[in-house]
Amino acid sequence: MDHFEQIRADGIEAYLDEHQNKELLRFITCGSVDDGKSTLIGRLLYDAKLIYEDQLEALEADSARVGTQGDKLDLALLVDGLAAEREQGITIDVAYRYFSTKARKFIVADTPGHEQYTRNMVTGASTAEAAIILLDARKGILTQTRRHTYICTLLGIRHLVLAVNKMDLVDYAEDVFLETEAAYKELAESLGASGVTCIPVSALDGENVTTQSAKMPWYKGKTLMRELETIPVDDLDPHKPFRMPVQWVNRPNSDFRGFSGFIAGGQVTVGDEITVAPAGTRSTVKSVFGAEGEVQSARAGQSVTVCLNDEIDASRGDILSNSVDPPKTADQFRTTIVWMHEDPMLPGRSYLMKIGTKTLSISVAEPKHKVNVNTFEELPAPTLELNDIGVCNVNLDQPIAFDPYVDNRQTGGFVIIDRVTNDTVGAGMLDFALWRSDNVKWQDLDVDKNARAAAKHQKPCVVWFTGLSGSGKSTIANVLETKLHAVGKHTYLLDGDNVRHGLNRDLGFTDADRVENIRRIAEVSKLMTDAGLIVMVSFISPFRSERRMAKEAMGEGEFIEVFVDTPLEVTESRDVKGLYAKARAGEIKNFTGIDSPYEAPVKPDVHVETVKCSIEDAADQIMAELRSRGRLE
Ligand code: ADX
Repeated sequence: MDHFEQIRADGIEAYLDEHQNKELLRFITCGSVDDGKSTLIGRLLYDAKLIYEDQLEALEADSARVGTQGDKLDLALLVDGLAAEREQGITIDVAYRYFSTKARKFIVADTPGHEQYTRNMVTGASTAEAAIILLDARKGILTQTRRHTYICTLLGIRHLVLAVNKMDLVDYAEDVFLETEAAYKELAESLGASGVTCIPVSALDGENVTTQSAKMPWYKGKTLMRELETIPVDDLDPHKPFRMPVQWVNRPNSDFRGFSGFIAGGQVTVGDEITVAPAGTRSTVKSVFGAEGEVQSARAGQSVTVCLNDEIDASRGDILSNSVDPPKTADQFRTTIVWMHEDPMLPGRSYLMKIGTKTLSISVAEPKHKVNVNTFEELPAPTLELNDIGVCNVNLDQPIAFDPYVDNRQTGGFVIIDRVTNDTVGAGMLDFALWRSDNVKWQDLDVDKNARAAAKHQKPCVVWFTGLSGSGKSTIANVLETKLHAVGKHTYLLDGDNVRHGLNRDLGFTDADRVENIRRIAEVSKLMTDAGLIVMVSFISPFRSERRMAKEAMGEGEFIEVFVDTPLEVTESRDVKGLYAKARAGEIKNFTGIDSPYEAPVKPDVHVETVKCSIEDAADQIMAELRSRGRLE
């Protein structure tokens, strides 16, 4: 009976009810069109009777017109029609299709198989419980098979189904299948995948897809569909430790206070003792509400509201967890990162990290190595580029509760977002916490910033000059310092050219080096304000991201951004140090404004246009800003 007949017979309510309660399996298909991937997905949809009558008519017409299968239906047209549409877009995303059988509902993520679409495959694999890896029986295991298997296991997919397709083209020969099976199991095992099933199929003829093939009587295993219907769904395992990242605190009135979220692991039952991580506070479960009202217990995959017996604090981003096995807490990790953006990763840059329901700051160190996804070789790499997969240490701006990704994909998986553009630039997996997190503590000191500042009778702050080389930053900063000095202020001027002779003499002018240059200077200027000083920073500091990071490191009102706005034509014609001429001659690479970008501030606190005012006026303009902020009292 197909879906429509069932609806007619039992009514829509019964039909929806049955579907609501079915278990969901998410899987990904890997392989290329040549391997018959589209035909296979088309076959699954067709045999699950999920094709509408009008689609079927169109398919019959298209098959006759452009199909490649003679009189037969060309099922690939079902899928490829959509694929072609997708490929017209700028980015190729993941196509998700939905179908169901009596036993289960399925969401299949279909991603292009080529290496340049690694990021798409990673996206599809990150939520999948199982993968169908498709290959052509005539060709056996290819480089792409290795790559697909690696990415699937890396992303935590435990169940791999190798569909050895096109068995019709090898005369349904058992030895061809057995040979491929043996080789594949060896490959999968070397990558740590345990649950591997190999199935000989012909997607074209439907052999072993949904019905047992009479042409391969030697194969006694399950059909592909049966396998999909019976693979265990690990993420839903109720025996795993309970985890629920709090999405929001549900407080409709003063009598009710519940924590709402999606259960990312295990189950929760009324009476359970739970721990709020990372704080570590404990309570017991008073009640649980699901979509249909109050319940005794709920488990992974469900969205619920949990009420506790004690008035304890928990907010968005915290994790409700069981007390026996709560998540660990750390702020430095070894991670594996997949880079998803055309702009390479900049080690040291402050990005946003989204993990569970929490958003915080992350900076990624230079990769330990990247991995060749075809050979699994570990290669040295100064950064990660689009589709690169690498192992990197990361630093967060606060401790988080987490599980290693292998234990829980939701409390151990994260995405990286660019602060300025809001683009998702990477995805990562927490491998383990670094020892430093626990062993290096903040030392409490008795004399603090306020005390040091009070002794100097001043309010510390950072005046951050940004602008092209030769724009006049240092000259203005110098005059400003003289003025501050004259009124008895304690100051320090950090100048790019000078600092690059000492502290930062190991750095050049690549984007990554400039990020590190500014990161260090932001840290140093923060230490200097901590010492009670008024600090002037004169660096090109070409990137918005790093200037923003420097600003965020300081307290409210303590960061004054001064844009020394001198047009390139002017700095170049002045060319005080003769560097522009050298850059134009190609003797200096990555020169700001020539072959390295400068991102001008959008809303600087002080905008100095040097072509319109004198050095003296510029310094006075900044003094006025400091005065109006109360920094000179
Ligand atoms: S930043 O971009 O990392 O902030 P920084 O202010 O430290 O640069 O150093 C800039 C100074 O280094 C310039 O004023 C110039 O004298 C010198 N310099 C040498 N090579 C370059 C280059 N490729 N780009 C910019 N400045 C350079």
